[in-house]
Amino acid sequence: MSVFMRRAKVGDLDRIMVLERETFEDDAWPEDAMRRELESPHAFYLIAVDDEADDESARLLGYAGLLAPKGGGQGDIQTIAVAPAIRGIGLGRGLMHALITEARRRHVAEIFLEVRADNPIARALYESLGFEEIGIRRRYYRGGIDAVHMRLTVPPAVARPAGAGAAGATGAASAERVAIDSRDTESKR
Ligand SMILES: CC(C)(COP(=O)(O)OP(=O)(O)OC[C@H]1O[C@@H](n2cnc3c(N)ncnc32)[C@H](O)[C@@H]1OP(=O)(O)O)[C@@H](O)C(=O)NCCC(=O)NCCS
Repeated sequence: MSVFMRRAKVGDLDRIMVLERETFEDDAWPEDAMRRELESPHAFYLIAVDDEADDESARLLGYAGLLAPKGGGQGDIQTIAVAPAIRGIGLGRGLMHALITEARRRHVAEIFLEVRADNPIARALYESLGFEEIGIRRRYYRGGIDAVHMRLTVPPAVARPAGAGAAGATGAASAERVAIDSRDTESKR
């Protein structure tokens, strides 16, 4: 397997939708919504692919998206999914790090996201990256599942000499708790 990440293109839409539907089932985004995301100048979507897979359908290993209008100062993690066969070995974390790096490049100070309250794996990933819970949206998802609203204060890039310790690759976010953000977040996960 040879895994690499690159910016997603509209030409990737079909295979992204295969993994989207497999992952999120009834909550999968409509294809048109995903297309708009991929086309948006304010969005930054990455895919991870296995360059050596013979089977085209096995090539897409994951995708993740950031929405961060340039100059806006804030961003949203729109979605992330990793193919079931390759979960648990660091790809999700790698995709998230890459989105946070892009957010920093866009001078984003804070990144927000929403995650299902019943998704402990994703919540653990986000918390380990420094995201903090800032509110709950009751019965936000299909089936009456709450959404946990989280925020990361984007840490500065750290260049540290080899052997100087691995703590806080993305830093810890501020501990301040704030009222829930009122922006329309219908399309976020
Ligand atoms: C959430 C998801 C993207 C994580 O991707 P992944 O490649 O499996 O994650 P990683 O291997 O990079 O693990 C990152 C962290 O996630 C958490 N995690 C991953 N697998 C876990 C498991 N089986 N149990 C508990 N925590 C787990 C851990 O905190 C892990 O960090 P650690 O390895 O340092 O302990 C993936 O599970 C997925 O696609 N899930 C379905 C879609 C989804 O829920 N998306 C999020 C919507 S908000």
